[in-house]
Amino acid sequence: MLLSRDQIARRVAEMGAQITRDFAGQTLVFVGVLKGAAIFLSDLARQVQLDSTFDFIGVTSYGNRPKPEDETKAVTWDSTGEVRLTKDVDQSLRDKNVILVEDILDTGLTLTYLKRLIMGHEPRAFRIATLLDKPSRRIQPVEADYLGFTIPDKFVVGYGLDFAERYRNLPDICVLSE
Ligand code: IMP
Ligand code: MG
Repeated sequence: MLLSRDQIARRVAEMGAQITRDFAGQTLVFVGVLKGAAIFLSDLARQVQLDSTFDFIGVTSYGNRPKPEDETKAVTWDSTGEVRLTKDVDQSLRDKNVILVEDILDTGLTLTYLKRLIMGHEPRAFRIATLLDKPSRRIQPVEADYLGFTIPDKFVVGYGLDFAERYRNLPDICVLSE
């Protein structure tokens, strides 16, 4: 176990309080990245005391995502072609305060792609909330505005994060053993 359900709950409450302060008196749209962010979004949104709506966006990578032992090859790939949209948002984000909610920021390819996509909607404000960050694997220079935990370069599961679609419902975040 890397992060217990209690540690996660405490940190998510702090993040929610921060968002509540930052956007006091305004409305928000939480946009969750399917499927990993679903659990984090539902906990985070309940810690934000503001008038809010939810939306969801789906992405997939083309499968040439770098493996940890294969990092050097990654920098030569076309990072813009790496990510593909599988589900767009349902509502217009124009003039909205958008909080993009992601489970983990790893290479940064996904959030770089999604940031560009959402900025095209001309939101009033755009912020990234991610529960986890693995900065050692970054390829694209994207940073979160609201970050739960910085973690080492380990593959983690639970609290929404999967390995081949499994383990998303583990209440704690665990390192996948060999
Ligand atoms: P990025 O585009 O490399 O930043 O990747 C972000 C996506 O990769 C996340 O939304 C996850 O779906 C997946 N991912 C990266 N690291 C992990 C991990 O340790 N466990 C589970 N999924 C991960
Ligand atoms: Mg994901």
